[in-house]
Amino acid sequence: MLQDGHGRRFYYLRLSVTDACNFRCDYCLPHGYQARHQQPDLSVAEASTVMRAFAQLGTRKVRLSGGEPSLRKDLPELIHSAKTTPGIKRVAVTSNGYKLPSVIDRWHHNGLDQLNISIDSLDRKEFAHITGHDCLPKILTGIDRALELGIATKVNAVLLNDGAHTRLHQFLAWLKTTPVTLRFIELMQTGDNRDYFASNHLRGTDIEQQLIESGWQLLPRPLDAGPAREYVHPDYAGRIGLITPYSKDFCNTCNRLRVSAQGKLHLCLFSDTGLDLRETIRTGDADALAEKVRALIGNKEVSHYLQQGNTGGTQNLSIIGG
Ligand code: GTP
Ligand code: 5AD
Ligand code: SF4
Repeated sequence: MLQDGHGRRFYYLRLSVTDACNFRCDYCLPHGYQARHQQPDLSVAEASTVMRAFAQLGTRKVRLSGGEPSLRKDLPELIHSAKTTPGIKRVAVTSNGYKLPSVIDRWHHNGLDQLNISIDSLDRKEFAHITGHDCLPKILTGIDRALELGIATKVNAVLLNDGAHTRLHQFLAWLKTTPVTLRFIELMQTGDNRDYFASNHLRGTDIEQQLIESGWQLLPRPLDAGPAREYVHPDYAGRIGLITPYSKDFCNTCNRLRVSAQGKLHLCLFSDTGLDLRETIRTGDADALAEKVRALIGNKEVSHYLQQGNTGGTQNLSIIGG
């Protein structure tokens, strides 16, 4: 098992399959996507080499992310490749969900276990305003289908200052009958969103206090948990998770590494511009790639240093897949 100098073990790979996105969320790509890279995205064969190398190093879960991964026509093949990599037990996708109703059956058929969809507001107009796309009803239909298929589904909502109270109430009404885990994510500062961050950042602890006061109870944290602290309430079919990267000790439980669609290893969401693995990936030699990754793990920093205003080489999260 891959372990760093701070005792953290890494069994979870987030593999970005494209940095392109068709949405233009205010906090991420407010002016829409513009290509910043020179090389084509990792092919299915190259992605498979990456997954085999990480599986050798103890990775048990792969999340395919983006950008928007469903912009790749071969995403079903990538899901299948992840699912059939020896050692990989769970395959997840993070998507904006805009194609969900028409693709979810195929993703499920090819081995998808977990799905995370971004919805920052359940108000159709506000959703369209934030993302630039008026497609909330279609996304909600897709989520219903994912639940019918038995796919564990989480919804990500970035916490934004303005109108937070109204949004919280809309989400709570939805969670009464919808068995998803809704995760509120604290807005993170990136290279591109400094002004937006300064005026919109809302602390997760403010929401947490309201939840506790209305009877939500913190679940014990499983050993292999992700970054969210999860809450349940007997009157609700859904759960609530809080992802608070600005809280103290957030990075102590880090269990993931990232590879970008350009074939760069990112030891942290906010590390520098990534360590180039492409040449080794191209050879198809998973053993050599695994050795290379093992040799680099010692460079992983103890924290993201977001609190000190660090954004590393992360201009926005579409580059690295969140
Ligand atoms: P699970 O695999 O379901 O635990 O999901 P996840 O939270 O790892 O995945 P998802 O793609 O839904 O991530 C949601 C968001 O949480 C990311 O886009 C980030 O904003 C945040 N996040 C996830 N992992 C990290 C991390 O290691 N560091 C920080 N700072 N934020 C993270
Ligand atoms: N801060 C917090 N979350 C972000 N996301 C994208 N950019 C940011 C940011 N700056 C979220 C998306 C999606 C997930 C992958 O990351 O809304 O839910
Ligand atoms: Fe781990 Fe970096 Fe995420 Fe912190 S920000 S939890 S160190 S990947």
